[in-house]
Amino acid sequence: MTAQLLDGNALLETTKVELATRIEALLERGVTPGLGTILVGDDPSSASYVDRKHRNCEEMGIVSFHQALPATATQDEVHAAIRAFNDAPQVDAFLVQLPLPHGLDEEAALLTVHPDKDVDGLHPVNLGRLVMGADGPRACTPAGIQALLVRSGVPIEGRHVVIVGRGLTIGRPLSLLLALKRPGANAAVTVVHTGVDDLGAYTRQADILVAAAGSPSMITPDMVKPGAAVVSAGITWGEGRRLLPDVDESVAEVAGWITPRIGGVGPTTIAMLLSNAVSAAERFAGAP
Ligand code: GUN
Repeated sequence: MTAQLLDGNALLETTKVELATRIEALLERGVTPGLGTILVGDDPSSASYVDRKHRNCEEMGIVSFHQALPATATQDEVHAAIRAFNDAPQVDAFLVQLPLPHGLDEEAALLTVHPDKDVDGLHPVNLGRLVMGADGPRACTPAGIQALLVRSGVPIEGRHVVIVGRGLTIGRPLSLLLALKRPGANAAVTVVHTGVDDLGAYTRQADILVAAAGSPSMITPDMVKPGAAVVSAGITWGEGRRLLPDVDESVAEVAGWITPRIGGVGPTTIAMLLSNAVSAAERFAGAP
């Protein structure tokens, strides 16, 4: 079997086309959507993720605002940067790029973001809305993975999704999102981690397998049910900034659908970030 590709770049392009009309409508009303980013420290991967977010905003006519802080920044300085964006009328939505440098409290930082400007959907109020099934900004990578599966025609409702990894940005919110009683969700979801006994006994049960543990080549063909959809979401950077995905390339021989090495989950996160930013701008602008 050779798997069909789950094409994140195609999702990003169609999302941009859909958003362009909404951005145009805002611009006609004199409203320019604004997205802010806060980057603390000099991690090259985080810097390149943030840069990519700005480039995509620029292309769409979304103004971006950036605040860079050194790795030596104190918790108070990080909170001051967050409050400045909370109070800035030109910034409709913003994010604090994670992970924060060692010693800084991410939870306290996320709590300081105003929930209405939380483009990441990671503020406890917005995570609570997800738990309740209420509307609100959804975490970008989980929402991107869901959109990618839906647009690729992968059946989700009633199927078994196994997620390896329970992190705040992917595994935990994705498990809630795909379990909601909604079209494009309504799945049976199992969340596991790399420390479980016999990981393969779980992953082989998956109709949809999401690897989000940051453990290079953790998923091998023997761990995959033939024909399953396999999403590689966890990333590790090796020597020379070589990308080491969680899913081994050879899994493509067994899977029915699979994310490509480049252009899988990454662009879907950007698509949802743009979408959340535009939604925030529309909310702030009020009814036309
Ligand atoms: N770092 C890795 N993923 C994410 C994300 O979704 N949001 C933020 N803010 N930082 C991240």
